[in-house]
Amino acid sequence: MVIRVGVIGAGNIGTAHALNLARSVSGSAVSVVFDADQARADSLAADLGARSVGTAEEVLAAEDVDAVLIASPDGLHAGQALLALSAGKPVLCEKPLAVGEDEARAVLDAEVVLGQRLIQLGFMRRFDPGYVQLKQELSDDGIGDPLIVHNLHRNTSAPYGLRTEQTLTNMVTHEFDICRWLLDEEYTSVTVLAGRPGPLTPQGQHDPILVILQSVSGVLVEVEAFVNARFGYEVGCRVTGSLGQAVMGDATFVTRAKSFHRGVAVPELWLGRFAEAYRVQLQGWVDAVRAGGPYRGASAWDGYVAAVVSNRAIESYRTGQRVAVELPPRPALYA
Ligand SMILES: NC(=O)c1ccc[n+]([C@@H]2O[C@H](COP(=O)([O-])OP(=O)(O)OC[C@H]3O[C@@H](n4cnc5c(N)ncnc54)[C@H](O)[C@@H]3O)[C@@H](O)[C@H]2O)c1
Repeated sequence: MVIRVGVIGAGNIGTAHALNLARSVSGSAVSVVFDADQARADSLAADLGARSVGTAEEVLAAEDVDAVLIASPDGLHAGQALLALSAGKPVLCEKPLAVGEDEARAVLDAEVVLGQRLIQLGFMRRFDPGYVQLKQELSDDGIGDPLIVHNLHRNTSAPYGLRTEQTLTNMVTHEFDICRWLLDEEYTSVTVLAGRPGPLTPQGQHDPILVILQSVSGVLVEVEAFVNARFGYEVGCRVTGSLGQAVMGDATFVTRAKSFHRGVAVPELWLGRFAEAYRVQLQGWVDAVRAGGPYRGASAWDGYVAAVVSNRAIESYRTGQRVAVELPPRPALYA
């Protein structure tokens, strides 16, 4: 059975995902495309032998759409995810689930009422070989219990002209998610420090920024986010544990330092920093849709948590204070 995917949003990532679904992932095809820019939707649909439609509602109602990919701008995800839930169709929704925690909560509540998990969030780092290997290091066979995590997240130039608060909801949301996934625990607080602006930072904005989180067990998580770093794209994560240290650089290799030895595993091929993560994420999602679940990726609950943490981070950025992160009980649907 081939899963026919309807694509909502045919920009950078929507197009990349659609090409993957049509050409690299097994068991899927793209059947319908919608973008507010009709020419863009027409062009992608023509490339993939799909048809384009004029509204998101048409994608969701289409009989030849079994599952939906949402890759529209951040502020539209929650509304379109709600539409997908009411249509009863599985959805891979790009991050963030929502910009504001209230909208994220509305999606979470709707899925809980439905009583069935249909939403997977596009937090693809959970499928990245580097992060997967880092997580495997967090055991007695590796570097032991995590104590402190340092992250780097740098863009060459601000995507979507990000302002500082959007840096938190759009970009650092990746670290909010991947670090709680790595540690397998929630945060208790977040602090955002704004330092000396770089030469490309718009007036009144801050870039780079430093975000410091603390987890329930006390682990410190630090993120340097720099949207106008100029020299290139870089993502890094360094975890110091009770037995050693694991370092993931800007490629997908991890360096382990342990027992007075530091070593690097070099992958055979360079395919682009997250190309493999996107492909593996999509293949896993298509396989889960075909099987009727379960979905291995981030859930609506994970998207809701990321929205809450992002919103507390904005509060910290505005006030300069450390802000507590408090979450409601996790609904049984996400146990
Ligand atoms: N997981 C990741 O690593 C990752 C990477 C890139 C982007 N993203 C996310 O994917 C989303 C899209 O990012 P992008 O880089 O492709 O942006 P983009 O600007 O290239 O594309 C967005 C597309 O949405 C279209 N659009 C606007 N209004 C719409 C509507 N009402 N309905 C449907 N489409 C509409 C635009 O015309 C455009 O084609 C963002 O939310 C971003 O955060 C995630």
